[in-house]
Amino acid sequence: MIENLKKRFPVFEKNKNLVFFDTAASALKVDSMIKAVNECYSYEYSNIHRGIYELSSKLTKRYEDSRLSISKFINSPSSENIIFTKSATEGINLVSYCLSDNYFHDGDEVLLTTLEHHSNLVPWHLVSKKIKIITAKLKSTGELDYADLLDKINSKTKLIAITHMSNVTGSITNFDEIKIKAKKFNVPILIDGCQYVPHKKLDIKELDPDFYVFSAHKLYGPSGLGILYMKSKWIDRLGPYQGGGSMIKNVNTDSSTYMNGFQKFEAGTPPIAEVIGLSASLNFINEVGIDKIFEYENKLTRYAYNQMKKNNDIKIYGDFSNQTSIISFNIYGIHFNDLAMLLDKKNIAIRTGHHCAQPFMKNFKISGNARMSVGIYNTTSDIDYLINSIEEAKTILQS
Ligand code: ALA
Repeated sequence: MIENLKKRFPVFEKNKNLVFFDTAASALKVDSMIKAVNECYSYEYSNIHRGIYELSSKLTKRYEDSRLSISKFINSPSSENIIFTKSATEGINLVSYCLSDNYFHDGDEVLLTTLEHHSNLVPWHLVSKKIKIITAKLKSTGELDYADLLDKINSKTKLIAITHMSNVTGSITNFDEIKIKAKKFNVPILIDGCQYVPHKKLDIKELDPDFYVFSAHKLYGPSGLGILYMKSKWIDRLGPYQGGGSMIKNVNTDSSTYMNGFQKFEAGTPPIAEVIGLSASLNFINEVGIDKIFEYENKLTRYAYNQMKKNNDIKIYGDFSNQTSIISFNIYGIHFNDLAMLLDKKNIAIRTGHHCAQPFMKNFKISGNARMSVGIYNTTSDIDYLINSIEEAKTILQS
């Protein structure tokens, strides 16, 4: 029963009254993941891919088995398409750097959207001496303007980089028409799946992007680990990104040659315990069932949305026809930070501000908003408590 899962999250043992609505920023940590990381450091740890002794070879196997579990979780064609980075942000930086090094030509266009998180904007700004950034607009509701986006794909477009689910509105991008037009002009697609993967089944083979990034910490897993899926043809063509141990074939003092596969993107000692921890948190998600998680969280979010929508003082961003797990809003006459501070006094955690999506906020001529986001530990009574507390905050702050 998903309703009973709160007990799997130790944070609630010490914070009994915590009502956590900030999963979109980072999810709370599940007990089996904490145990796996703890056991790895306590009893299994040594460096991997290097040691000819049992401790190292056993952990190397567990680490590579974890790559396989992660690959299966997203239905990747092979674990060889999975690259570990320190964050999803680093994954996008890796791609922007490598494409700039060995794919983009001066004046090529990269198509982004006004819905993007800074992590899918700034890495493109860093290579913008070479490329021209084109941005798809939003509709007045805050949804992506698909007509505008499709219109902006042409023979100059050399990459489309889009979020799979907005971290501001929770809206899920429909790639059907984007893929058709991208195929027509032979444009690769990068998808930022940080918000999508924790909530909905990802089938990489079906979606078929060239690059896809997500992060472990939003999957009830450890911080400090990002996952970059890269199609084999790009693995063959691009890289390396950073230089160091593990990614080399042969090194001289003045030159070196590099591994061919995903290994060329993984310089240095990797995030070993984090990868093992992520595998444990994915086991937990698999046990619960990602489809059940989606159904449950969607029901909770819709329940919250329907109650908030009744209140004429609340402006919700996005039209909610294809959104899940996130609601961002402002209350007329109340600053979002004042609301968050009053809610905090009632042990409710929400995020406020620009949510690393300043272009979205500028589009609406606001400095930020309040965002509630759900995870599998939330319940209907959490939502009732939030809605009542918002009403109380309104009485205090609007008077
Ligand atoms: N990307 C995270 C958020 O939206 C940090 O809050």
